[in-house]
Amino acid sequence: MRVLALPGSVRAGSSNVALLRALAALAPDGVQLELYEDLATLPMFAPDTADTALPAAVAALSARVAAADAVIICTPEYAFGMPGVLKNALDWLVSSGDLYEKPVAALSASPNEGGGARALGWLRETLSAHHAHVPEAATFAVPFVRKRLDPAGVCDPALASTLRAALESLRAAVIARGGC
Ligand SMILES: Cc1cc2nc3c(=O)[nH]c(=O)nc-3n(C[C@H](O)[C@H](O)[C@H](O)COP(=O)(O)O)c2cc1C
Repeated sequence: MRVLALPGSVRAGSSNVALLRALAALAPDGVQLELYEDLATLPMFAPDTADTALPAAVAALSARVAAADAVIICTPEYAFGMPGVLKNALDWLVSSGDLYEKPVAALSASPNEGGGARALGWLRETLSAHHAHVPEAATFAVPFVRKRLDPAGVCDPALASTLRAALESLRAAVIARGGC
């Protein structure tokens, strides 16, 4: 099972990217996570271009989403919403339908108490516009993320267990959809 991990941050040293990297180490046998690292290369969404010739970076993202059995998005919260770079990527993916009925984990992570819950709510609404399938066990906010990660990975056993359950729910959704 191939899972594309899509962060909502382009910041060097991003805790959301760190969480996605740590998640790869928790993946059960047969589940392979690939990190999407080209978010900053996507041009600004332009409906006219989307209808004619897709920019190469967008076509590459679309191909990677299409080839993945499932997607995991982990985003910070900026000004009570999801960062523009992530919304931009998701807007590009509307016309392809790549996320249609695709199992998607929707996570937010933040160094503070809220965990980016408002960004997560917005992300979930956007994913519902894509008709993505977000299993209940695969969507939650991660507060105090910096204290729960160390260089070796996830150092909080409760978070590790929640993340494993999210991966299992994605795998079940992929199998139910007839994949893998
Ligand atoms: C422009 C900006 C706006 C932010 N707004 C919020 C916010 O509304 N809520 C919140 O919990 N954190 C907010 N933060 C703090 C981010 O959650 C924090 O910087 C986080 O580490 C970013 O994620 P990253 O480490 O993956 O880059 C904001 C940060 C920036 C730079």
